[in-house]
Amino acid sequence: MSTNQNLKPLTLKINPQGNLELGGCDLTELAQKFNTPLYVLDEQTIRSICRDYKDAFKNYPKVNMMYASKALCTEAVSALLAGEGFGFDVVSAGEIYTVYKASADMSKVLFNGNNKSPEELSLALKLGVGRISVDNFFELSLLNEIAKSYNKVADILLRITPGIECHTHEYIQTGHLDSKFGFDLTQIDEAVELILEQYKNLKLHGLHAHIGSQIFETTIYADEIEILVKEIARLDEKFGLKLDEINVGGGLGVKYTEKDVPPSTYDIAEKIITALNNSIKKYNIEPPALFIEPGRSIISTAGVTLYTLGSSKQVPHGKKYFAIDGGMADNVRPSMYQAEYCAQIANKPLTDTTAETVTIAGRFCESGDILIKDINLPVIEEGDILCVYNTGAYNYSMASNYNRVQKPAMVLVNNSQADLIIKRESLDDIVANDIIPDRLKQL
Ligand code: LLP
Repeated sequence: MSTNQNLKPLTLKINPQGNLELGGCDLTELAQKFNTPLYVLDEQTIRSICRDYKDAFKNYPKVNMMYASKALCTEAVSALLAGEGFGFDVVSAGEIYTVYKASADMSKVLFNGNNKSPEELSLALKLGVGRISVDNFFELSLLNEIAKSYNKVADILLRITPGIECHTHEYIQTGHLDSKFGFDLTQIDEAVELILEQYKNLKLHGLHAHIGSQIFETTIYADEIEILVKEIARLDEKFGLKLDEINVGGGLGVKYTEKDVPPSTYDIAEKIITALNNSIKKYNIEPPALFIEPGRSIISTAGVTLYTLGSSKQVPHGKKYFAIDGGMADNVRPSMYQAEYCAQIANKPLTDTTAETVTIAGRFCESGDILIKDINLPVIEEGDILCVYNTGAYNYSMASNYNRVQKPAMVLVNNSQADLIIKRESLDDIVANDIIPDRLKQL
């Protein structure tokens, strides 16, 4: 059992006042103090899953844990994960800058992405990002030029498409052949020839793949590893190239609803390490350093979102809707991936004997802005606080200002202390980048 298999954060309980409590903080009080919608992160859950990962992989000698920042990238979260010994997978100047501002060790940062801009690649080189995973021929040449202009050698991996389909939502599959990410297996030799013969400002260390996200079947990691190791051995034979790094990406799933049964970090580590050891033997290569890039499984379970319930509507002979003060702009996953979530009422978690089935609607001007369909909750009154579970990953990071609604605040809770780690946006933040040309100004 590991923490990514829990539906709720580790420290969640019902306190003597009969309210939900997280990290020793009463969630109803947090909603009053910080207002809603509010993202709340449980520090102990994050630390526990980090330790699960480290423990699960301890039997492989060289493991680099790279937290996939895209799941949730803030300075506080980056500082916390750096403190747990994690490096970072980043995909933009914004993520590079955030981890840099959090004083992360930049040599433990890996820059991914299928269309990195010249400015982003320059920033990565300037700030000493440890590895750049090059995605395509265009980027190989671009990065070589930029590195040359700085008189540097960029340390790279090649992102490859292993041709593996995982059973997850089509939008979050990445390893299949027809993917926009990475070099096709048939293009690797050409890329390697270019690096060895022309691109003297690139140093290739290894191969990288990522097969998808919210993955429940661990066997596909074995397939992925077999392909990566086979390629490493083949490149050694053909070019005498000794690659000593293998990055298997992220993807371990989490439990959004009772029907989800994700594998544990121990299951996945056992599959990865066994597959790696078997392939190392089979293809007779030196054990490479292993990189993994978990995002969702590190941060999702730690997060809950609090909303205040407002208006309701009973459709004659139909559904009963209750509206919250947030929705698709702070959690786009239900409308984008038909994602399902579980929730409770923070100020009356126990009274489910009077349960009714309701649909939780978002406040945004879009019919598809439905957060949870047909959930059983105690009889709701206006002003009740809804606590939605497992919202730590890809909620804030995909949040928008749709309808010009301000993005919510985020607090980190631990030992009865709640620290604000993201301020709620103000109305002035909303218009901060707006410019009215003089000719349109009202006199
Ligand atoms: N490494 C690479 C190269 C990736 O592209 C990703 C995720 C990860 C690691 C981390 O995967 P994770 O461990 O979080 O599954 N917005 C979607 C998820 C998109 C994932 C994109 N890549 C969602 O909300 O489900």
